[in-house]
Amino acid sequence: MAFTFWHVPLAALLASYTFVLAAVEIQNPQSQYKNVIQSKQEGCDLYDGKWVIDEFYPLYNASSDCPFIGKGFDCLRNGRPDKNYLNYRWKPNACELPRFDGEKFLERNKGKKIMFVGDSISNNMWQSLTCLLHKAVPNTKYTLTTQSLLSVFSFPEYEASIMWLKNGFLVDLINDKEKGRILKLDSISSGGQWKNVDILIFNSYHWWTHTGRSQTWDYFQVGDKLIKEMDHMEAFKIALTTWSKWIDSNIDPSKIRVFFQGISASHADKKACLGKTQPEEGSMAPYPGVDIVKSVISNMTKPVELLDITLLTQLRIDGHPSIYTGSGPSFVDCSHWCLAGAPDSWNEIFYATLLRD
Ligand SMILES: *[C@@H]1O[C@H](CO)[C@@H](O)[C@H](O)[C@H]1NC(C)=O
Ligand SMILES: *[C@@H]1O[C@H](CO)[C@@H](O)[C@H](O)[C@H]1NC(C)=O
Repeated sequence: MAFTFWHVPLAALLASYTFVLAAVEIQNPQSQYKNVIQSKQEGCDLYDGKWVIDEFYPLYNASSDCPFIGKGFDCLRNGRPDKNYLNYRWKPNACELPRFDGEKFLERNKGKKIMFVGDSISNNMWQSLTCLLHKAVPNTKYTLTTQSLLSVFSFPEYEASIMWLKNGFLVDLINDKEKGRILKLDSISSGGQWKNVDILIFNSYHWWTHTGRSQTWDYFQVGDKLIKEMDHMEAFKIALTTWSKWIDSNIDPSKIRVFFQGISASHADKKACLGKTQPEEGSMAPYPGVDIVKSVISNMTKPVELLDITLLTQLRIDGHPSIYTGSGPSFVDCSHWCLAGAPDSWNEIFYATLLRD
C-alpha cells in the first residue's frame, strides 16, 4: 500500500528542540563535563550531537545501586564481557547537557506524579530514571508496586511517584469472541488513567512494526470497518492522530505537561547489534515512522515536547543487550537497551528540558 512521507514543518517543531541552558552545576571535577553557563539568547539543539567517552560514566552500577532493575537490562550481570559501552555520554554539539542531579529532580518534583505510558522501551526509560533517582538518594525510602499494567515507584518523603503504565498502542486493543483481537485505530477508552498526573511521557511505535507471529492483533478497525491488513505505518499514523486529538481535547497544559518519547532505533534487522562494542558516528538515514511522529505532534493545538531520541539511539548499535539478556545466547535483543546505558541520556535530556523553566 502506498505510503506518504510528509514534509516536516520544522519551524513549528523548533520550539520543542531549541532551548536555553541555565547555569550547569558541576559535581565531579574529574569529569570532562564543562561548567558551562550559556547566555539566555543562545539556543541549542540537544539532539544534534555525538557520543563521547566520559570516565565519570556510568552514572550507576545496575547490580549494586539498583536492586529493582529488570533482569534483562543488567547486561554486565548477564555476562557481557566488554565495558566500554558504559562510558558514553551524549554531547550536543552546541552546548553541554546539565549533569543529572537526582536530588534536585526530586525537590523540583515534590508532590508530583510522573507517568510513562507506552511499551517496553518506556519501561526501559522508566527503569533508568528510577535507578538514577535511587542512586542519588540511596538512604531515602522507596516503594515499588506493580498491579496489572501499572508499576509505581514512589519516594514517600518527597511524595513523588514515577510510574510506568504499559500500553503499546495507546489506542484500544479489544478481544472479540467471534472476530478475534481488534486494534481500534480511532478509539481510546483508557485515557482516564492519564489525567490524574503532573507529567506524561508517551511512547508508541515498536508494537506497530510487528508482523506474523509477533503481531498481537487480527484486525484493524476504523469506524465500523474491519480491515484485515493495511500498511502498519499508515495504521500507526491514524492511531497517533487519535491520541493527539485525545490530548488536545482532554489535557490542560497548565496542569499537565506532556512529552512524547520519540522513536528508539532498533538494530534487530539481521541481528545487527550482535558483537558490537562501539557506537557509530555521523549522520544516519531517516528512520521509518519519525516523520509521522513529528507531523502529528506539530499539528496539535496543545504543547507536546518531543524527546527526539532517534538519531542518538541509531548511533548506539553497541548499547543493546544482544545475547546478554539473561535468557540464554539464542535470544538476541537488539531493541532494548542495557542499563546503565543509552536511556540514562534520554533522562538527562528529559531533566534538562524540565529545568528549562
Ligand atoms: C557493580 O557492583 C557489583 C556488585 O557489587 C560488582 O561486582 C561489579 O564489579 C560492579 N561493576 C562495576 C562496573 O563497577
Ligand atoms: C498535519 O497538517 C498538515 C496541514 O494541514 C497536513 O497536510 C498533514 O497531513 C497533517 N499531518 C498528519 C499526520 O495528519
